[in-house]
Amino acid sequence: MRSRSVLSAGQFSKEQLEKLLETSARIEAHLQNHRQLPLLEEYVLATLFFEPSTRTRLSFESAMHRLAGRIISTVGVQFSSLAKGESLYDTLKMIEAYADICAIRHPVEGASAIAARNISIPVINAGDGAGEHPTQALLDLYTIRKHHSLAEKPVTVAFVGDIRYGRTIHSLLQMLANFPVEMIFISPVEIGLPDKYRDFLKNKKIKIVETEDIAALREAQVAYVTRIQEERFPDPREFEKFKDSYIIDREMVGKCRPDLIVMHPLPRLSEISLDVDDLPNAVYFEQAENGLYTRMSLLLDLLDVPFVG
Ligand code: NCD
Repeated sequence: MRSRSVLSAGQFSKEQLEKLLETSARIEAHLQNHRQLPLLEEYVLATLFFEPSTRTRLSFESAMHRLAGRIISTVGVQFSSLAKGESLYDTLKMIEAYADICAIRHPVEGASAIAARNISIPVINAGDGAGEHPTQALLDLYTIRKHHSLAEKPVTVAFVGDIRYGRTIHSLLQMLANFPVEMIFISPVEIGLPDKYRDFLKNKKIKIVETEDIAALREAQVAYVTRIQEERFPDPREFEKFKDSYIIDREMVGKCRPDLIVMHPLPRLSEISLDVDDLPNAVYFEQAENGLYTRMSLLLDLLDVPFVG
């Protein structure tokens, strides 16, 4: 069987994304009146998380449960045989026999690509170090599309915070590049846009602005705010320097476009004040909910099980 893995957001065509989003919307509608969509009764998902996670793992597992599938799971090196020195390769080899599909989060960039090369079941990259997080990008895209059409007029998306190490940004910018968008990158220069993504956007002829000035947010229709990725900094003092670079509060949102939506992959630290939460612009909890529908849609697609309903 050919393995259909999800390793990078850049692997999807616009048509594939449209199809996944369309199915996600139908799943969301279905779940308004049903608790389950029992299409994966025969399947087992393995979630292998070697880095902290709350939403990603729980929404993958909830997605599989809502599809009536089964789950096996290991969390953290300390609870698995990796703590006994078992190599990742050996762990993966046996997962192939235990599960039909797996989602992996690992601190090393490219870990899921290595996994996909070595096992025959589909591998989903659920975050590889400072690399990518393509399934987060899918739910982010779904959320943006619910609020802004992404059809003809370009939508202005501002990324705020840690653009260098923020893997959710790396994935989302690649998916968004399929649609009419303009992008603003707001960050301290040292944690700005990596060259490879600047080149990528240039090739795709996407208009971008890079700035340190948070006032640029006033132009935006989407504020994609991120946590400074403390665990990725080689030198902790560097993190200290950037940790409170930007704080989005109610007053600032009040000065922005009324149609601005404020997004965050979560967990948030201080970068969005709590007083933003009850503004209609704040969509980060809705965004987390959308992870369920988009991951259900993706699991069906990768396992080649259609949802005709
Ligand atoms: C993100 C991640 O793990 O990259 N979280 C998530 O999956 N929702 C963002 C982060 O940790 O800052």
